[in-house]
Amino acid sequence: MDTPVRSGSIVILDSGGQYAHLIGNRVRRLGAFSEIRVAETPAKDLKGAAGIILSGGPQSVYDKGSPQMDNGIFDLGVPVLGICYGHQWVAHALGGEVKPGKKKEYGHADIDVTEPGSPLFRGLPLRFGVWMSHGDEVVRLPEGFKRTALSETCRIAAMADEERKIFGVQFHLEVTHTQHGMEMLKRFVDLCVPAPWAIESYAKHIGEALREEVKDRKVFMLVSGGVDSTVAFTLLNEVLGKERVQGLLVDTGLMRKDEVKKIEEAFVPLGITNLHIEDASEEFFRNLDGVIDPEQKRNRIGITFLEVQKDVSLKLGLKMEDGWMLGQGTIYPDTIETGGTKHADHIKTHHNRVEAVAKMIEAGLVVEPLKDLYKDEVRKLGEELGLPHDLVWRHPFPGPGLGVRILCAEEESLPEEIGTIDLPHAVLPVRSVGVQGDGRTYRHAVALFAPDRHVSDVHRRMATSIPNTVPAFNRVLRCTSHQAPPPFVFTPGSITRERADLLREADNVVDEELRRGGLYETTWQFPVVLLPFGTKKGGQSVVLRPVESQEAMTANAAPLPDALVDRMTDRILGIPGIDMVFLDLTSKPPATIEWE
Ligand code: XMP
Repeated sequence: MDTPVRSGSIVILDSGGQYAHLIGNRVRRLGAFSEIRVAETPAKDLKGAAGIILSGGPQSVYDKGSPQMDNGIFDLGVPVLGICYGHQWVAHALGGEVKPGKKKEYGHADIDVTEPGSPLFRGLPLRFGVWMSHGDEVVRLPEGFKRTALSETCRIAAMADEERKIFGVQFHLEVTHTQHGMEMLKRFVDLCVPAPWAIESYAKHIGEALREEVKDRKVFMLVSGGVDSTVAFTLLNEVLGKERVQGLLVDTGLMRKDEVKKIEEAFVPLGITNLHIEDASEEFFRNLDGVIDPEQKRNRIGITFLEVQKDVSLKLGLKMEDGWMLGQGTIYPDTIETGGTKHADHIKTHHNRVEAVAKMIEAGLVVEPLKDLYKDEVRKLGEELGLPHDLVWRHPFPGPGLGVRILCAEEESLPEEIGTIDLPHAVLPVRSVGVQGDGRTYRHAVALFAPDRHVSDVHRRMATSIPNTVPAFNRVLRCTSHQAPPPFVFTPGSITRERADLLREADNVVDEELRRGGLYETTWQFPVVLLPFGTKKGGQSVVLRPVESQEAMTANAAPLPDALVDRMTDRILGIPGIDMVFLDLTSKPPATIEWE
């Protein structure tokens, strides 16, 4: 993109980590306008920016093709902050030295502030916890810099050239697991004098932009019932009027129990009646029959969505030639995990970005009114539009629905090297998607067993240490149904109606119990996952995956009261066909929230 940046914005130069948007969101929460640009954006295009933040990324500064920012950014006279890869690049670009660290560091670390008077750290405690995710580290400072913090494994955890207002931090200050992260970012933003930003005024801008983009055309919009598509559909109705909008809710067979009915009912009081409901579950199950690979599943689901939408639009007489466009509820982070920006490692394909949709986007036939917003901003906008609280604060539910929670496998698989684990444990015979050092993994999970059902601190600690030390694993679970590992009986399985029905029942138990326990609103998201093995032929297992998060870029396993886990486990074991229950204790990274 070579358009100049908006005057007064804080620009995040994206080196491909999944963190660039998180930084952008945090900056906006601090009331400053932010924009994301590719790492190599020429400095001349950044004139007018109030400050520049260099994001993290999966590569080493020495890698061929690694993101190299324009050194001219240091001559713009505005504050610069490098985070993780950005920190290393600043050191490298200005004559310091970067080397592979003695130990890769993923997860929690404590830092000691060595320059308490330095602008980012002023007034903060001298030691606090941060979130690290790196292999390389800065070992020699560039001229004019001083070290401002260190950690046990990282000698230069932060550095600053206070005169030129150039800062570097090895840790990810943008994630919630970093203590005082927002305070450090605020101190940086305050040095920048940025243009102010607020969702209320931005909503007006979205409305105007939408009118301009759609012109006199009409919009056909897929509604999933999730927060994003619901808000986008409501916004389209509000801005363009009912006559120019047609909604379609496709029942994929991968929805939650009674979900379609509930969504339909929720729109009635809003006066939104232009929503067509199509039961396409047969078609989805047919197209997913025998599909095992997570990416292929996503692709099939995406393609089937498009086929159904094509059929329905023909049926309803909505032709592109007659001026109909496709609306989508894509939000900002959805665009990055697909490698939407140049350097992002391919983690997974968002169903709003499969090839056919990408082609339509190129042809200007897709409108995505929320594509610059983050989840919290979408929710605020939803409330502005008068959507009911319950709808706006629903847990996020992925577009491909239960399709990413029904784990598929043709045959059991086990890792070659499993290292030593001191507690009773069993390696699960399936793999799931994870994310480490900004790259995608597809690895095994290990389950811990103990005589009682409850999760101890030891289990939680092992959930961090095992994936850090044993490369075979990206997840650690606690078995809540069995005290000792039973022999697993594996049953090959893809996505079928039977398995979806089974998962729907388990998911419904979790939803009911969570609400009954008064924990629905304080739990960020609670996927329930079905695994193709149990203790007898055809038996399945269920994984509980409660998480705490802000924008899903990073997450922690959410703690649950023991009694609640007991109740959920007992009720789920009461569902015929389910033999075992597990609780996922892994944070993101190294696991992802969904299993795929
Ligand atoms: P992961 O598994 O990547 O998930 O940690 C992050 C968040 O994204 C949601 N998710 C999706 N949402 N369409 C969506 O609208 C999708 O294709 C999709 N895939 C994952 C997931 O539920 C979690 O909140």
